[in-house]
Amino acid sequence: MTEFVLNGTPVSVGDHHEHLLTALRDELGVMSPKDGCSPSGQCGCCTVIVDGKARVSCQTSLDKTAGANVLTLEGVDEAERQKMADTFAAHGALQCGFCTPGIVMRTKAMIDKKGADLTRANAAALLGAHLCRCTGYIKILDAVQDLAKGEVPVAIQPAGVGSRGIKYEAHELALGDRPYIDDMVPQGLLHGAVHLSEHARANIVAIDTSAAEAVDGVAAVITGAEVPGELRSGIIYKDWPIFIPVGGRTSYLGDVLALVVADTRAIARHAANLVDVTYDALTPMTNPAEAIASNEDAVWGLDGNVLSTSTYARGDAGSGLEGATHVVRETFQTQRIDHAFVEPESTLAIPIEAGVSLPATGTAGEAELVSDQRRLYVYSGGQGIWDDRNDIARILDIDKSRVFTELVSNGGAFGGKEDMSNQGQTALAAWLLNRPVKTTFSREESFLVHTKRHPIRMEYEAGCDADGTLLGLRVRMIGDSGPYASVGMKVLERAAGHASGPYVVPNIDVEAIAARTNNSVCGAFRGFGANQAQFAMEGVLDRLADKVGISGWEIRNRNVITPGVTWGPGQVMDDGCLGARECLDAVKPAYDAAVADGKAVGLGLGLKNSGLGNGFKEIAKAVVHFRDDGPPGQPEQGTVEVRHCWTEMGQGVHTVALQVAVEELGIPAERIRVIVDSTRELGAGQTTGSRGTLMGAGSVKDACERAIADGCKVGVDYEGEYRVDWTNSLSEGVANPIIHSTFGYAAQLVVIDPESGKIDKVVAAHDVGKAVNPLLCEGQVEGAVHMGLGYALSEGFPCDESGKPLNDTLRSLGIIRPKDMPPVEVILVESAEPNSPYGIKGVGEIGLVPTAGAVAAAMHARDGQWRNELPMTSEANRERASAWT
Ligand code: FES
Ligand code: FES
Repeated sequence: MTEFVLNGTPVSVGDHHEHLLTALRDELGVMSPKDGCSPSGQCGCCTVIVDGKARVSCQTSLDKTAGANVLTLEGVDEAERQKMADTFAAHGALQCGFCTPGIVMRTKAMIDKKGADLTRANAAALLGAHLCRCTGYIKILDAVQDLAKGEVPVAIQPAGVGSRGIKYEAHELALGDRPYIDDMVPQGLLHGAVHLSEHARANIVAIDTSAAEAVDGVAAVITGAEVPGELRSGIIYKDWPIFIPVGGRTSYLGDVLALVVADTRAIARHAANLVDVTYDALTPMTNPAEAIASNEDAVWGLDGNVLSTSTYARGDAGSGLEGATHVVRETFQTQRIDHAFVEPESTLAIPIEAGVSLPATGTAGEAELVSDQRRLYVYSGGQGIWDDRNDIARILDIDKSRVFTELVSNGGAFGGKEDMSNQGQTALAAWLLNRPVKTTFSREESFLVHTKRHPIRMEYEAGCDADGTLLGLRVRMIGDSGPYASVGMKVLERAAGHASGPYVVPNIDVEAIAARTNNSVCGAFRGFGANQAQFAMEGVLDRLADKVGISGWEIRNRNVITPGVTWGPGQVMDDGCLGARECLDAVKPAYDAAVADGKAVGLGLGLKNSGLGNGFKEIAKAVVHFRDDGPPGQPEQGTVEVRHCWTEMGQGVHTVALQVAVEELGIPAERIRVIVDSTRELGAGQTTGSRGTLMGAGSVKDACERAIADGCKVGVDYEGEYRVDWTNSLSEGVANPIIHSTFGYAAQLVVIDPESGKIDKVVAAHDVGKAVNPLLCEGQVEGAVHMGLGYALSEGFPCDESGKPLNDTLRSLGIIRPKDMPPVEVILVESAEPNSPYGIKGVGEIGLVPTAGAVAAAMHARDGQWRNELPMTSEANRERASAWT
């Protein structure tokens, strides 16, 4: 046993723990330190204070802990806890909150040591031990500075639409009190661990599980042979196997061959390594250009290597280019990158015997609590729990009414939690063993399994007249989608649709192919294809400006879309597109000042649709319910439930729902309880593409209006809805299709110091239509700029010729560190969308669309070099050139 003092109380723990973090979480039940990457010590989420010093507990051995004083957030004095939580909340210094308890502990240690002498630069350097993927660190550093100075801002609850209040559950998140799935430990829990493929493409000859089964504490080893229903699942195409069985073939290194279920996670992981697989290795197809030209199938059981081809043409691109005074022809290459959400994927599945009630902590209503059939209760942190439920039922071969998916707000996603990760295998294990099972991926497993941002090779040919007015554009793209569809065809479709950026192009011809390969699966990621396309479009526009002899700002000014023009695939733009020009105008003073100051300046202008569009019928619902729990004689003072169906992943959709209810019902925020309702299909589908804010606000608004019309009666479910069922698919053959209902717009200005080459600042003007909560909107933009700078400069997730990712740690991804994050000046533009609630357009999705183009232009302004490949400063994280020839 190892003895130490935890939060003032002597404790002893078993010596078997690999590090202090597992002793705290698994044996002592202390859950505020989170596990984002153990045991590699690279995310900082597990930070605690040991003998007065901040330590990442996953790198602290029990030997070093013996006799020490260990402090976690649970043991911090209550007044100090509240002070720190208030300050982080008031500054909007947290989004998903998974990184926050660790950062709060680091903050305490820094301030205990340096007090008011702690400078912003000191703090930024020390926060280098922490990864925050959501905030861009700016608001975190604001909070740290206030705490160091002893200034505690007032954490104001949000009021109606447009008010600048704190995030819903901000205090619980800051203190690590709001449980994530891995924090849940039901009675009798077993732990799952996966055995992943050693080869990106290999026939499975045999799987020997005997050595794993013989390990003490192992309850079962489950393989594809035990799947009672469908082997394959998927959001759009059902093509992604949850296991590769004997006789099957692996198609990437994230394929699962077995799930070991054991008493502890350590035993499960140890035994998973003992599963012995006999492979007949095949040559993986990792070159997308070769894959689409080949007759051999890259992926087991799927025909052909072309996942999709998206095309459209308008006018005559050939004549437009022939008649142009200036023409540029360039090939651009973007890279694969990882979402690096800080919470690794986790699923908890609990079988419920017939006649036994569902967990009272869930959102099930009276009607669902008891059933005469055995059922399965699954806690999922995914972005679309109804898709999860339907696929789990298909895998188990039971009616979907017997699977209940409870959505648990996750620790970041950015699109990377749309597909099931370990939900299917975990649900199967719980169902077969009739025991609760939880599977939480290690960081390495998370990297291998989940989807990535598509690397895309783009050939652009663009022409303009002598004044810089665009005349023609021809684009050919190939994207590496990896083996399984996910939403890869939609990403390439969106890249094609956004190929021309927010500009008027009279003659356009676009083709985008998604290739199936044996590299990582690629799917949804904030920006969804628009980032790649607009890096290229901004690049050709800057070259044309150079040829014409006008500035980057001026060529955008001459070509930007205006209401009534025909855009991209043929959509006639509405008044919502005035936001593009307003963003451009908003950065003009800073642009002129920086140029006059002799700085190297680059500008990017972008657009990105919100919602799905393309003819998809989008109908989202919400429920407002007045509870009978007011003080005696004052039923109108009771709690008001706002039930919606969107995944909260840091973006603030709960806060949006709350503010809309405050706005419409005229009641204080304190009376409202926001609930993600897993009991009824409220029609959300995936929480993706800035849909949550737009459609969530619309449906809550409608529910409130119905409640008011009926006198807000206690006990009634007032259901409201928001519909976007009037967009067109390109295949309908409509002359001017409405491809998307809504777009967000952004102009970003990157200013580089010509001497040092460092980025002085970024000015980001974002048209969000209506900023429901300006504090949260700013945080979204700052976080997006941080992510965009990483995308532009240093981030990557390359694979070698065998399909093996070359990066297997968070640090190797090249994410920008806090000390390297430049100041970001956010300008929120509110150019209302005519057909949306309050004029909302969404903020998350457009976030980093213009960033890479702006950085490339600024770097060119400094050294005269055009750049066509991302990331621009890390050769190691670029795509293998040979993979595209
Ligand atoms: S879990 Fe310890 S640093 Fe990431
Ligand atoms: S708030 Fe920091 S990772 Fe989400």
